[in-house]
Amino acid sequence: MTLSTDTHNNSFALRAKILHFTDQPDVHQRTGYEYFADGVLVVENGLIKQVGSAEELVKNGFDLAVCEHFPEHLIMPGFIDSHIHYPQTNVIASYGEQLMDWLNQYTFPAELQYSDKDFALKAAEQFIQLMLENGTTTAMVYTTVFAQSTEAFFEVAQKYGLRMIAGKVMMDRNAPDGLLDTVETARQDSQNLIDKWHGKDRLSYALTPRFAPTSTPEQLAMVGELYQANPSVYMQTHLSENIQEMEFIKQLFPEAKDYLDVYDEYDLLGQRSVFGHGIHLSDDEINRLAETDSQIAFCPTSNLFLGSGLLDLARLEDAGVTVSVATDIGGGTSFSLLRTLAEAYKILQLQGQSLHPLKALYMATLGNAKALQLDDKIGNFTQGKEADFSLINLSPTQIQKSRQQQASKLDETLFALMMLGDEHNIERTYSMGKMVYSCHSCASQE
Ligand code: GUN
Ligand code: FE
Repeated sequence: MTLSTDTHNNSFALRAKILHFTDQPDVHQRTGYEYFADGVLVVENGLIKQVGSAEELVKNGFDLAVCEHFPEHLIMPGFIDSHIHYPQTNVIASYGEQLMDWLNQYTFPAELQYSDKDFALKAAEQFIQLMLENGTTTAMVYTTVFAQSTEAFFEVAQKYGLRMIAGKVMMDRNAPDGLLDTVETARQDSQNLIDKWHGKDRLSYALTPRFAPTSTPEQLAMVGELYQANPSVYMQTHLSENIQEMEFIKQLFPEAKDYLDVYDEYDLLGQRSVFGHGIHLSDDEINRLAETDSQIAFCPTSNLFLGSGLLDLARLEDAGVTVSVATDIGGGTSFSLLRTLAEAYKILQLQGQSLHPLKALYMATLGNAKALQLDDKIGNFTQGKEADFSLINLSPTQIQKSRQQQASKLDETLFALMMLGDEHNIERTYSMGKMVYSCHSCASQE
């Protein structure tokens, strides 16, 4: 086999520690994942050609000399973020408020700037760079109410060859005038964007009514029609994040049984429906989510930052609800899925639950890919999948180096990575076998 380390060529191989998941891991039986302490990942034409231990590959005649070798680094599939707002990059770390005031005071003013396509293009570029430097290669993204901001996002994602899901936000009430659409403009814009972008290259569309308080019943009914008429598109919105928000729902939709019932009434539930948060749900709502295969995006840093509450993961999972993990920038405080998992761990600890690092890293990769129904394309290193992955430095800081030196088992190494890691750990990110991010200041790149 002739291979080159030049990633512009069709074929190359990297040798490092490698971890990926083949299924939901069973941490006791030690199934559902593959770990190679000395592994090789072979990429050809943007797809995974082979993964295995260096020793096994050599036995089959593979020449290790063709590999670029990082003995102390870890290769993992690219992280997947199931709920993030691209216009909120610079809303991050805005002081003092909970959801409703935070939206009015910080978020809506920031989103108003996205009527300008050039501004939106620059912001999309920065946002995508930030995701890539955090090892995130796929995300489900809210844009703004302005169709041109959605265009801008898709254009930049397409330029980098990324697999992304995004949609234009729909809001026809309870937001500043400049941020409102109407039932008809929202329908037209969404359908035009679906026609132009859904299924184009690696891009998919998500119908995006922001949340029930900012859409009239007529707008939600229209979204339901579009959702039913376009069976392969996604639907994303927010659900039961904050107590004040829930009171508002009772006022706006007095006839609804509960918050989820508002979305149910307009046919917005289903396998491709991703509901952000879902912290304060009743048993009825949880059962209805499970029954309809609708899912929750767990946004730990956001839930803590906005004081929204603690998600009871065990309760949702025991009822059979699929839960993905997400940053929810800019309510969330970090683009890093590693940081996000660390905060998820703490949220669960406060409720007497824990989050094993294998399960956590599964959630951020194959688990989220399955939730978003993309696991036939991304999420692990099965042969033929799209080669989206990152090269992770396990010891980029003094404390990580010192802690990792103490780690004698894989679980310990991974747990320290998950609790202490962030963008400083991400040395390179690849999308479809192309290096789309490389850390210039990292030691092994010099
Ligand atoms: N609910 C409605 N809009 C938003 C938003 O932008 N962020 C969060 N965290 N919750 C929301
Ligand atoms: Fe959100």
